[in-house]
Amino acid sequence: MRTAIAFDVYGTLVNPLAMASHLRSSVGDLADRFAELWRTKQLEYSFRRGLMRAYQPFSVCTWEALLYTEKAFEIVLAEESRTMLMQHYKQLAPFPDAQPGLTSLKGDGHLLAAFSNGEAAAVREVLENAELLSRFDDVISADEVRTFKPDPTIYAHALRRLGQDANVTWLVSSNPFDLIGAKTAGWRAAWIKRDPRAVFDPWGVEVDLVVSGLDQLARQL
Ligand code: 2OP
Repeated sequence: MRTAIAFDVYGTLVNPLAMASHLRSSVGDLADRFAELWRTKQLEYSFRRGLMRAYQPFSVCTWEALLYTEKAFEIVLAEESRTMLMQHYKQLAPFPDAQPGLTSLKGDGHLLAAFSNGEAAAVREVLENAELLSRFDDVISADEVRTFKPDPTIYAHALRRLGQDANVTWLVSSNPFDLIGAKTAGWRAAWIKRDPRAVFDPWGVEVDLVVSGLDQLARQL
């Protein structure tokens, strides 16, 4: 049977912090900090909405996190700048190792799925713009079960969609919360640790593989 590998998208294949380059013209030197807080709040809003069973799609979390970040920095962006930023969010740059790594993994015959908290249409669009979509056999979205990773429901949903057992299915992610979610659901997990200073949550959960990029992953799987 082909090995199924599910890839987290935002932060693993494409870089949300690259939004800083689009923010610079409106927020100047705050661009990097703005992009970081925006991403942190986007994730926090998804976690909170999951816990509260107050589901709204990930794009709503992204939008509301943008409004929060403006307030936190006491900045008011024009409505057209906000719309433009949301448009740029669909064109996030891929990490340089993503394309060669996915190409090798696909060539090795693995079953590859994008597996994201983003809505399927948004995920397809961002992957298409990053020239990564053609490497995938499927796109699995948390929106299909109206909750967010790391809710165990979504990992179970992904296994049903893939027709696979947990112990032979891999999650590949740069996000420790996602890796811990997958390991807790019985999956195998590979941490893409591009930043050597990245910290893994000390919850007593171990991943199966730590690599610095998808190209290295392709060599090790
Ligand atoms: C994703 O693509 C949470 O950003 C992460 O699911």
